[in-house]
Amino acid sequence: MSVQINDLELLDAVCDFALLHPHPAVQKFRDSVQNWGDDWISIEPAYLPAADFLVEAIANTDQQTRELVETFEQHKNRLHWEQSYKKEDDVVPDSMLEGYAFAEIIGKRGPFISDRIRAGIGIWGPGILYPRHQHQAEEIYIVVAGAAEFKIGAAEEAWLGVGDVVYVESNSPHGFRTTDQSLVVYYLWQAGDLRQTSSFG
Ligand SMILES: [Fe+2]
Repeated sequence: MSVQINDLELLDAVCDFALLHPHPAVQKFRDSVQNWGDDWISIEPAYLPAADFLVEAIANTDQQTRELVETFEQHKNRLHWEQSYKKEDDVVPDSMLEGYAFAEIIGKRGPFISDRIRAGIGIWGPGILYPRHQHQAEEIYIVVAGAAEFKIGAAEEAWLGVGDVVYVESNSPHGFRTTDQSLVVYYLWQAGDLRQTSSFG
């Protein structure tokens, strides 16, 4: 198996973003990120339309997040864009399936294989509701471009934008909705099945 220099650029971008992040909640994931593993596989590129939001999202970044979003934008045609839900599952609105995607860099399915940490970015276009859902793994969302209204656990709904960090406890319901801007989040999962399908309701 071979790994390309471009893949290492993405791996470094994803690891450095977490390891250099000052937020205490992100630091809880530090050990898992630093010791993600040592194996990788090649992944077939897969396109989804949400990847196209990355170009305009760069204008909605800040100094801390621009480089990460630009790195993903530069490599977007080589990435494996995917979705966790299918139309027939009937758990998320059709508008979400039309306008969202994620690209994983570290996780159970690679390209950098880990059973400790899941890391990548997710993109949601404007006007999307991601209904409240939960999973066993604890999670970090860092808004790296755009904004959305988040509802996390028992907390009030909150409008979050670039640089904001959300920590989601294990099995805590969470969801969000975008309005006029697309949203790009950097995500981390640990301490649970890293490919568990979320439950809703
Ligand atoms: Fe989640």
